[in-house]
Amino acid sequence: MSASIVVGTQWGDEGKGKIIDIIASRADVVVRSQGGNNAGHTVVSGGQTYKLHLIPSGILYKNTLCLIGAGVVMDPKDFVGEMDMLEGRGVSLDNLRIDPRAHITMPWHIELDGLSEKFRGNADIGTTKRGIGPAYMDKYERCGIRAYDLIHPEIFAEKARSTGMLKNKIITEVYGGKPVDIEAVIREYTEYGKRIAKYVDDVSVIVYNADKEGKTIMFEGAQATLLDIDFGTYPYVTSSHPLSAGVCVGTGIGPMMIRDIIGVAKAYTTRVGKGPFPTELENETGDMIRNKGGEFGTTTGRPRRTGWFDAVIVRHSVRVNGLSKLAINKLDTLSGIGDLKICTAYEKKDGTVIKDFPPVLEELADCKPVYEMFEGFNEDISRCKAFEELPKSCQRYIERLEELCGCKIAMIGNGPDRTQIIER
Ligand code: IMP
Repeated sequence: MSASIVVGTQWGDEGKGKIIDIIASRADVVVRSQGGNNAGHTVVSGGQTYKLHLIPSGILYKNTLCLIGAGVVMDPKDFVGEMDMLEGRGVSLDNLRIDPRAHITMPWHIELDGLSEKFRGNADIGTTKRGIGPAYMDKYERCGIRAYDLIHPEIFAEKARSTGMLKNKIITEVYGGKPVDIEAVIREYTEYGKRIAKYVDDVSVIVYNADKEGKTIMFEGAQATLLDIDFGTYPYVTSSHPLSAGVCVGTGIGPMMIRDIIGVAKAYTTRVGKGPFPTELENETGDMIRNKGGEFGTTTGRPRRTGWFDAVIVRHSVRVNGLSKLAINKLDTLSGIGDLKICTAYEKKDGTVIKDFPPVLEELADCKPVYEMFEGFNEDISRCKAFEELPKSCQRYIERLEELCGCKIAMIGNGPDRTQIIER
């Protein structure tokens, strides 16, 4: 039993890629279990930067088995593009496997994602427009196309024709959009099916057997807790379960396999897309954090909204994920930005102070952050190797985060490189 899960504790982009990469270097098996190419992991390895959206970052290690579980929605066009990019740079894909149950994102999903966002006007969600929501809608409506179908041309053509016709009706008659050329899609996607066919295998069985053999398994989370369809800031969420529990249904394993659940947070908060953000800084400090921290989306390039660390949010994450450890990233970004604030609780309009993250947006809208002030630091901390080497004010900041979140901070990121991590 040595499986661990890495999850995002805020709204995504917490630097999970780096933590995942560190843990993947010690893992025999790396598994992705939900989401799709809405995710973006940047991994720096051997002086080279790899931007991955679907293929698990463990692929950069020669002997690591990289699995895509049943809960993932897979865009084959992007997937094949990623395969080409990796093979072109000499990375072997021999250890890649895709569960036949994983759903396929089709061109009409992408089209419908854009059209429904446009239809919502000012109330849009700010999706990545990768067709994620519509692909999951089909999955739950039980009319989706799965990896198994894609690699069987006759089954694929039949399913693509029937579902494609229905989707074209919605695209043209509901939204007034342009229909997708179904026959062209069938031709193009059948070729993708041929490319991925040899990688399709039952991931649930592979993970189960790997665990029985005593292998080290890591589940790499995509998106994050506050983007969870149930426990996030609905409706400004993604359409899957980025929570630790999502790993079990998204892979086909039981919860008793898991030993460690590591939550990743930034030393501050960011979010892309729309929706409430209690500690948002729409001022110079927010701009400074954005620029210093390079806070621009990996998938869409959008500038991220920035704000103070919100302990109410991370406490919520500790609870709903059952976190055993926290990793706090990008502490170095806070150097030189002046005094720091941590949100410890929310105050409602009637003056009541609450410590638990409200379950619905209407209640969240009624909340103002309650802050604790901290002395900032100006030192360059990027070369620190041990907690004790950090400036005293920095240590106090981390210790207070630990206390407020109710979870051990086991790792602190102090720079973009894989080696810039302080383990406690
Ligand atoms: P979707 O997942 O494309 O449907 O987008 C829904 C919401 O989740 C939007 O606010 C996106 O910006 C956000 N989102 C989706 N994936 C990620 C991610 O990997 N990091 C951060 N935000 C994400």
